[in-house]
Amino acid sequence: MLSVASVTKRFGGLVAVDSASLAVAPGSITGLIGPNGAGKTTLFTLIAGFEQPSSGTIVFDGTDITALPAHRRAERGIARTFQIVQPFAGLSVVENIAVGAYLRHPRRADAQAKARSVADFLGLNGMLDQSAAALTVAGRKRLELARALATEPTLLLLDEVLAGLNPSEIRDMLPVIRQIRDRGVAILMVEHVMQAVMSLCEHIHVLAQGKMIAQGKPAEIASHPAVIEAYLGQGAAKRLQAAPSGGAHA
Ligand SMILES: Nc1ncnc2c1ncn2[C@@H]1O[C@H](COP(=O)(O)OP(=O)(O)OP(=O)(O)O)[C@@H](O)[C@H]1O
Ligand SMILES: [Mg+2]
Repeated sequence: MLSVASVTKRFGGLVAVDSASLAVAPGSITGLIGPNGAGKTTLFTLIAGFEQPSSGTIVFDGTDITALPAHRRAERGIARTFQIVQPFAGLSVVENIAVGAYLRHPRRADAQAKARSVADFLGLNGMLDQSAAALTVAGRKRLELARALATEPTLLLLDEVLAGLNPSEIRDMLPVIRQIRDRGVAILMVEHVMQAVMSLCEHIHVLAQGKMIAQGKPAEIASHPAVIEAYLGQGAAKRLQAAPSGGAHA
């Protein structure tokens, strides 16, 4: 469904994404992990079309979308959430969600109806008329997800939707993410909460310093020497193997 081929993004002298490739299958939940500053958010920005890659191609549903602007990609079915959530603070919760719904429902009443149904799905129906500024962190994360879902995507890019949530809020979000996939939306998720990544994702890509260093099933990734090195430093894989007992979790 999505194929990113040898994509590079340079910011001046910095190579934030370095010839990275990845694929997302229809109806799948795919993970994108990697240490801070690896280039994960930059890659999302390139897939969603907010920035152009320096080189490489991005193909979505069989069409080369590399040169398409962000709104054209949204029309084709790509939506993203932002790592730093910034709702329109002057608008209510339902109006914030409607901002996404206007993409396919130009009439205000239709957009609001769509926004209400998405809010209902995400458990935001009790706070429709509340100001978005009054939401808790967990509420803002759900609102961010709702705005993206209201565009009726077929591919949803989630950038750390679990960051800042407490363990019970994370537990509540996991089935929501699965349900989105079950409704036919493919998901590519950037996430630092490893337990969530390991339980949700069928396939995981690992980015470190702009380069894809590994990909595979969760179990393969968790024990992959290059991944352990990327997270814990050079020689870490060997040190872990040499450790007399378990207890170290990469
Ligand atoms: N617009 C920009 N201009 C210049 N440098 C940028 C820009 N956006 C990102 N970078 C740099 O590119 C690198 C990758 O950043 P990015 O935000 O993509 O990493 P990340 O993997 O999402 O990290 P984190 O896990 O901390 O969110 C960093 O060194 C960052 O400072
Ligand atoms: Mg990021």
